[in-house]
Amino acid sequence: MVSDHPARVPGDVPPGSRVPARSAVRAWVYDRIIAGMTATWYRQVLERLPDGARLLDVGIGTGAALARCADVVRAKHLAVVGLDIDRDYLARCRDALGRAGLTGQVSPVLGSVYDHRGGPYDAVYFSASLMLLPDPVAAIAHVASLLAPGGRLFSTQTFHHRRSPLLERAKPLAQHVTTIHFGRVTYEHEFRKAFADAGVELEELVTMRSTRRSSYRLAVARAA
Ligand SMILES: C[S@@+](CC[C@H](N)C(=O)[O-])C[C@H]1O[C@@H](n2cnc3c(N)ncnc32)[C@H](O)[C@@H]1O
Repeated sequence: MVSDHPARVPGDVPPGSRVPARSAVRAWVYDRIIAGMTATWYRQVLERLPDGARLLDVGIGTGAALARCADVVRAKHLAVVGLDIDRDYLARCRDALGRAGLTGQVSPVLGSVYDHRGGPYDAVYFSASLMLLPDPVAAIAHVASLLAPGGRLFSTQTFHHRRSPLLERAKPLAQHVTTIHFGRVTYEHEFRKAFADAGVELEELVTMRSTRRSSYRLAVARAA
């Protein structure tokens, strides 16, 4: 389904034409800015999974966050497919998984969520990756079709409490400077609508941490 979607793997680049240092720096910046925080999100989701669960991690990135939870991945005997469209991040991800001793349990795959045909999965997880997609509704509907009976869809990300036109403009600028795609500013009603439009029931929307302006939340959903 949705194979003609715009969010594709960026075009192939001839070998030798990339600047390796730039790739490494992008992934390093990502790990410094994001991975510490999202590792705590991963841990909360992984701890909810049943033993032996088959997990699709949509947008695994550099794998740093998942690697920091290697103890849970091992203890629960999880089998993870880590999908991403970013070659630089996936190169670093393979190294991180090797160092964490997870190569037997986590398979990095270069590809877009819209084109992924794997499964069935017991769980699909979007960590900071759902609302940056060009069409979250199509992504939710597609991955829901990859779930085994009783499977669950998880998402963790930042929500903003009040409309912030300034932040809405600042996020693309921050992406330009850091090379990290921070996604759009997300409000609860838009997030809920994305699941409703996809025909997927949102069971929980738990606040993991909150500040005056924003909160980090964990969503759990199941196919209707
Ligand atoms: C903000 S990062 C989050 C990485 C990681 N999940 C974490 O929480 O640390 C979002 C990731 O989603 C990936 N991504 C963006 N569009 C995608 C798509 N269409 N299919 C799969 N991954 C995608 C990006 O390349 C990036 O690595």
